[in-house]
Amino acid sequence: MDSLEIKGGAPLHGEVEISGAKNAVLPILAATLLTRETCVLRRVPDLADVKTMCQILESLGAKTKIEGDTVTVRAEKVRDFVDYDLVRKMRGSLCVLGQLLARLKKATVSLPGGCLIGTRPVDLHRKAMEALGAKVNIENGYIIAKARKLVGGEMFLGGRAGPTVLGTANAMMAATLAEGITVIEHAACEPEVVDLGKFLNSIGAQIQGLGSPTLTITGVKELGGAEHEVIPDRIEAATYAIAGVATKGEVTLKGARPEHMKAVIEKLRESGVKVEQSKGKLTFKRGRGLHSVHITTLPHPGFPTDVQAQMMAFMTQTPGISIITERIFESRFTHVQELERLGAEISIEGPSAIVHGVQNLSGAELMASDLRASAALVIAGMVAKGTTRINRIYHLDRGYERMDAKLKKLGGKVRRVK
Ligand code: EPZ
Repeated sequence: MDSLEIKGGAPLHGEVEISGAKNAVLPILAATLLTRETCVLRRVPDLADVKTMCQILESLGAKTKIEGDTVTVRAEKVRDFVDYDLVRKMRGSLCVLGQLLARLKKATVSLPGGCLIGTRPVDLHRKAMEALGAKVNIENGYIIAKARKLVGGEMFLGGRAGPTVLGTANAMMAATLAEGITVIEHAACEPEVVDLGKFLNSIGAQIQGLGSPTLTITGVKELGGAEHEVIPDRIEAATYAIAGVATKGEVTLKGARPEHMKAVIEKLRESGVKVEQSKGKLTFKRGRGLHSVHITTLPHPGFPTDVQAQMMAFMTQTPGISIITERIFESRFTHVQELERLGAEISIEGPSAIVHGVQNLSGAELMASDLRASAALVIAGMVAKGTTRINRIYHLDRGYERMDAKLKKLGGKVRRVK
């Protein structure tokens, strides 16, 4: 297993190219199962999760071809059997549920089980499939959905933590081939869900209300093929912006969309970071003084839970007390004890982490865990004095394209160690 060795103290400077969004391309890859025609996806990031999703599509009978950042998929015929070892590896694979049900009227998908950021229930996915006329059972670790045919229906997809991103994706995808009209209330508004909806409309689906909490889908008989460029990854973009200001540097993002990052930009500005936008580029650098901020993670357009850990690493460098409240996942604080090993002073009170700044951090050996927690450790390691070694960085490879190369290009002293 690879590790990342980081020599702290080097400010990051320069420009970083933002890759396509992992959380857009995974459901869009799954959506190619809905049609027999060829789909060409561009700006696909080179990630472990993308390779896993392509393997799942192949195990279902689809043909995939990866050439650089372009992936071509043709699912002429699809079988019901999913290689469950693959599905178990990645929660995002749950989003094949909607397609298999729509295409084969039958789907057996392994339950994602718990993961480091908390239990990953599927009650809303089940509710969505049942609203379309499917019979859904959960037995020995699988979610099994069957339907004689899918009929449009109404559903409310608000759970205990608000909307569900992949639940909305599954519902939207299954509804495209259901008979009649489907209305999804309290749908997720994340840019990745909008991008999926745009892809679906480009292959012939009829979805209205993308980006709003109410989606109306008019079912069609069949779908065609299309070419689609995936949106840039707003979470990767936020990660490099925060790394830049945490290390007292200046980082310019190329290809990011500021309209997808409003909550992050707002909070960074509030903490004293200067954010400038010109000619499609976004530059982040520290202002004169930094201030502590209070953050609550919320569904889009609120502050994204996927940037919570990275922001916490930065908050160790802002003076005073910052409070970060995690409202989406019940235990997304695995990075806290690792940050404490670097000397951070953080106490957890229920759903909130209280971060004391400014803390001088010093290098240590750390263990990567959840994808975004690992990114927080990289940021903290680049701030800490001395050397930090982060083990099990396959977690990073799942969601960050060539992170070590991108950081090196920005002047970060990082090296991947076998
Ligand atoms: C997506 O996960 C993302 N993953 C996650 O990103 C992201 O953190 C999450 O959305 C929230 O924005 C992908 O898109 C592949 P949810 P998803 O269903 O769809 C509860 C990353 O780091 N819930 O929106 O699985 C759930 O427990 C990953 O890139 C139910 O109660 O998340 C959570 O509290 C991590 N019942 C909340 O909703 C359900 O049936 C949001 O979960 C489903 C979810």
